[in-house]
Amino acid sequence: MTNFRKKTIKDVDVSNKAILLRVDYNVQDDSGVLLDDLRLRESLPTIKYLIKNNAKVVICSHRGRPRGEFNPALSNLPVAKHLSQLLNQTVNFADNAFGDVTSKTISSMSFGDILLLENIRFYKGETENLDSFAEKLSEPFDLYVNDAFGASHREHASIAGITKYLPSVAGFLLEKEVSILENATKVPEKPLGIILGGAKISDKIRILENLIPNANTLCIGGAIANTFLLAQGYDVADSLVDESFIDAAINCIDLAKKSNVDLIIPDEVIVTVGQGAENLIRTVAVDQIPAGWRVLDVGPSTIAKFRHSLQDSKTLIWNGPMGMFEQEQFAKGSLEIAKMIGSLNVPTSVIGGGETAAIANIAKIKDQVTHISTGGGASLMLLKGDPLPGIESLMD
Ligand code: 3PG
Repeated sequence: MTNFRKKTIKDVDVSNKAILLRVDYNVQDDSGVLLDDLRLRESLPTIKYLIKNNAKVVICSHRGRPRGEFNPALSNLPVAKHLSQLLNQTVNFADNAFGDVTSKTISSMSFGDILLLENIRFYKGETENLDSFAEKLSEPFDLYVNDAFGASHREHASIAGITKYLPSVAGFLLEKEVSILENATKVPEKPLGIILGGAKISDKIRILENLIPNANTLCIGGAIANTFLLAQGYDVADSLVDESFIDAAINCIDLAKKSNVDLIIPDEVIVTVGQGAENLIRTVAVDQIPAGWRVLDVGPSTIAKFRHSLQDSKTLIWNGPMGMFEQEQFAKGSLEIAKMIGSLNVPTSVIGGGETAAIANIAKIKDQVTHISTGGGASLMLLKGDPLPGIESLMD
């Protein structure tokens, strides 16, 4: 087990303190009703701990990318309402993130109260990480708590800049995310199995380079597998490939060989031509892809092969869809992989990445896996082994 290297809310006295708690409530809504509240639910342990310990909890989050402009469609107001229901406690809402009125509201709060600030990205200083903005934001507070794992890869004022002006510690979600992902990637219980998919091989090569030396089995699906198939001499017809990454794919195949990793690429795929009409979808072996057709999902034989090679894993990491899951007719491979992970009973199974987490939620496997990360880009950075600004800037 690696230890979490940073101070957390357990290491400092939070009682009778005014706390700025940064969370990632970047969730979509439909007419004010939140579509997925995983990020809110995962933040509850930190909020409850702070309340129980008699802190004033002022919560700060971004939603969407409003580029420094007020945008009512991205207001945090529906989030305040939903959070209130989850906590069964009033969550007050400030229609500003700072300023005289908000400062007065904060100073008049009782310990144990909760206030949610308006979307922090309504201010340009946030994404520009302006010191003056971070300093102003910090003024009413005694302590900063980062529980926004999903945004910790951003060098923004309320994530990184603020730590210059306040003692800064991690919340429980940040600690959990980093510990689980770092343990699974750096000191996994072996055998370590990895399933990597997704559309862009350029996003995934560094993950492969980082994880292959520690892995036992690596299963590659999604459009990135097309470049691996091409690198191995298969004709993938009109499938999405990135020819500039063929050498990188060959290097990964070599690295896998050197590291004794069982590298599994699809042997059977789902292909289509044109717009993907039902009567133009076929399951074919990878050496039978018809000219003009393209691969959009993995086939049943590939899924069976993945299952067979991963079944003895003690740690399993999954990132990236197996095909164009946004279209129902090509979502089957991704959903089957999610269900397979749920059914394998692997001691540690970790799912990371925004789309991958969405698939896991549709497949309803949350209770059958160890962890579904709340981070998209942030979890990709940890899988690559890169430092996250929002974590590095916290107190050691
Ligand atoms: C996410 O949803 O991945 C995070 O909230 C970060 O959002 P961003 O990509 O807009 O910075």
